[in-house]
Amino acid sequence: MVPSDPGIPQSPHGPAPVRRRRFIEALLGSGFFLSAAAFFYPVLRFLVPPKESDMGSGSVIAAKIGDLKPNSGKIFRFGSRPGLLVRTTSGEYKAMSATCTHLACTVQYRDDTREVWCACHNGKYDVNGRNVSGPPPRPLEAFEVQVRGDEIFVRRRQES
Ligand code: FES
Repeated sequence: MVPSDPGIPQSPHGPAPVRRRRFIEALLGSGFFLSAAAFFYPVLRFLVPPKESDMGSGSVIAAKIGDLKPNSGKIFRFGSRPGLLVRTTSGEYKAMSATCTHLACTVQYRDDTREVWCACHNGKYDVNGRNVSGPPPRPLEAFEVQVRGDEIFVRRRQES
């Protein structure tokens, strides 16, 4: 038999304080579990990045003709990563990964300097994605561009 707690009023109908205690213990236990999950989930997502969606030889529509004026750039979605489409001053289209090769910030096109720029640590690339100054150790991955109709398609370069 469970000794009665003098601080808890007893129900004349049975063991209500025991049920209440179990309910509070379950509530505290689930609160602890949820707190631990809220802490560890982002840590796990960071340590185990999601699989890159396999773009294979597939291509994505990066923009429509007319979306970009000469000397401008546009970020588009390339699988799970951002891509950067640049229209040069001569009207040529260039496409590359928009993920900086230093610490993975998203790069952008700067029309004033006509470069691809990473704001995180002032990394700079040319319009072909070659790293020209700052900390980036490698060029950006260059993509293939095809204009079909009024749409601009981008895909990974085929290895030959
Ligand atoms: S993350 Fe781009 S320069 Fe550091």
